[in-house]
Amino acid sequence: MNSKQTYQWTEMTMGTCYYPEHWDKSLWEDDLRRMKEAGISIIRIAEFAWNKFEPEEGIFTFEFFDEFLELCLKKEMKVIFGTPTATPPAWLTEKYPEVLNGRQDGVLYRHGGRRHYNYNSPKYQELTKRIVTKIAEHYGQHPAIVGWQIDNELNCETCEFYSEADSAAFRVFLLKKYSTLEKLNQAWGTVFWNQTYTDWEQIYVPRTTLSQGINPHLHLDYIRFISDSTIRFCEMQAEILRKYRKPGDFITTNGKFWNVDNHKMEKECLDVYTYDSYPSFAFGLDRDPKNSVDLNDRRWSMHLNEVRSICSHFGIMEQQSGANGWTTRMEGPAPRPGQLTLWAMQSVAHGADFISFFRWRTCTMGTEIYWHGILDYDNRDNRKLAEVKDFYSKLKTLDPVCGADYVSSFALIKDYDNSWDTEVDVWHERIASYSEDEIFAASQLSHTPYDVVYLQEDSELLDLAKYKVIFYPHPVILDEGRTELLKSYVEQGGTLVIGCRTGYKDMNGRCVMMPQPGLLQQISGSDVRDFTFTSPAEEPTFAMWNGEKLETPLFNDILKAVDGAQILATYANSYYAGEAALIEKRTGKGRVLHLGSTFSRENVTQILEYTGVLLPFAGMIDAPESVEVILRQKGNRRFLFVLNFQPMEVRIELRKEMKLLYDGKTVSGTQILPAYGTAVYEFE
Ligand code: GAL
Repeated sequence: MNSKQTYQWTEMTMGTCYYPEHWDKSLWEDDLRRMKEAGISIIRIAEFAWNKFEPEEGIFTFEFFDEFLELCLKKEMKVIFGTPTATPPAWLTEKYPEVLNGRQDGVLYRHGGRRHYNYNSPKYQELTKRIVTKIAEHYGQHPAIVGWQIDNELNCETCEFYSEADSAAFRVFLLKKYSTLEKLNQAWGTVFWNQTYTDWEQIYVPRTTLSQGINPHLHLDYIRFISDSTIRFCEMQAEILRKYRKPGDFITTNGKFWNVDNHKMEKECLDVYTYDSYPSFAFGLDRDPKNSVDLNDRRWSMHLNEVRSICSHFGIMEQQSGANGWTTRMEGPAPRPGQLTLWAMQSVAHGADFISFFRWRTCTMGTEIYWHGILDYDNRDNRKLAEVKDFYSKLKTLDPVCGADYVSSFALIKDYDNSWDTEVDVWHERIASYSEDEIFAASQLSHTPYDVVYLQEDSELLDLAKYKVIFYPHPVILDEGRTELLKSYVEQGGTLVIGCRTGYKDMNGRCVMMPQPGLLQQISGSDVRDFTFTSPAEEPTFAMWNGEKLETPLFNDILKAVDGAQILATYANSYYAGEAALIEKRTGKGRVLHLGSTFSRENVTQILEYTGVLLPFAGMIDAPESVEVILRQKGNRRFLFVLNFQPMEVRIELRKEMKLLYDGKTVSGTQILPAYGTAVYEFE
């Protein structure tokens, strides 16, 4: 089961991030008034304000936020309260340097940045428990509060931890997993390069080694350990908050970052997941020459697909409102008129029912003076505030969309073992990221949306069976459980598409001594007899499929059909010309397609067409590649989002009568969307 959401918004809601501690108190009331006028009904506060609650060790003060929350109550502003553990006070790290995270070479990250602590320090855990308990005891029943945010962006800034406390906790994690050193040595293949451990104390989180020689199996377990540490830290806080909060108040954290199983974290600790969406990280970068239209900021749709798999009706805790930038890194363009709305609608289209803009006003001090908010330093009304107001008027017409499901044509299957193995193994990374980007591009350009489904311990056939077609591009690591699930999916009628390099590793990341695609050979009807990266010195390889060219980029498995499987395409060049490149095998009511290469936008489009899921909106709309088209559905109410990511107007054709929700007018036929324009239509 992917998502276990226990909180859902009941109407479209808009918020912002506010830092009362950054401003003179004389501004507070006017700020809240102007927010309310703009449609902002929720603010997130306090996530970096530990000193305001505990200015000295063990001395707790609440006057500052008491006063602010009183004002919120008076102004009818609701609040999401953050726990302040992302920025420990100076007194804390000075007295207890063991709480600090450090670089791999042992240099500690000192006070002054953020997220410089480690999850496994017993001292940090103790002080975290204490501050979170004090805050929750004091504010848990406060009527202005509607939700809680744990920490801020767990595993942002860094997702690697190298403190002494981490090595100690890593040993405990490994002892629990392997129980004996013999099993650990076996799992990690430590006989290679004489790495054998004879005492648990010899084991550390990865340290600086010569020849870039970190044992990859140790490294994979290290990432699993980081994920576990992150979740335990989050859970520790969630348990405290659960004890003191009012019924109905939600617990969340804002993601999504690396080296953490976000699905597990959501299931074990949170009521709802929130995401921080900053498409302008990519807007303004050079266009990838492969792309016929600019997909840079549209790439955030790829992230949003992932977020939806963690929690189908999520919130955006930080939605871009101004230009990105720090004094120390990044210079970004300001969102163009319309783009603030476009990017916020991108989030809504993908499943967000709560949009909170970062931040109310740009900070006038510190590293983030260029991470622009809605208002600028001068505090005057500006075009961004006007656009926020306009966005709100549009958002409120979308109340019927709240809680509606995203409708997808196929699923991209992933799992954390393989994702993390890509961080350990450059061969794996190269093919996996290439295929994922290209599947995304194919989906965007052909308006064929997809969901992401992570295979997890509790995954069930139902999670897969709702998709006619699933792509599991390169499941390098396979185990029996996942194989069985995939087999059942195929038997009941599904189409499973796999690519090159499938099934050659076990759960430890060690290579298995069996023919590829390993365990999946039971249903793939394919046998990999030879394989190679394609050579940049030769012409790109390709195959022929029913007289049409089929791209086979980057890596080629040279296949043989076995068990009565059928060859659909054969390679047309290189030393394996004439050998099988695409094989189909039927099992039960379904089938497996094994493509012996990575996925390109062209070959994905061909496969989507062959499997009958391409262009699901053809009867509703004709839209150019330059727009994204998304459908959300609730019961029999259908809502079509059209998002124009280009700096010029575009023409679309509505093939049915539809109601434009923004103004309630019924329209059909040719419609013009302005530069960066959006539209949401309801139709039968
Ligand atoms: C986010 C973070 C915010 C702020 C923003 C701009 O990652 O949660 O606190 O730092 O980026 O840098």
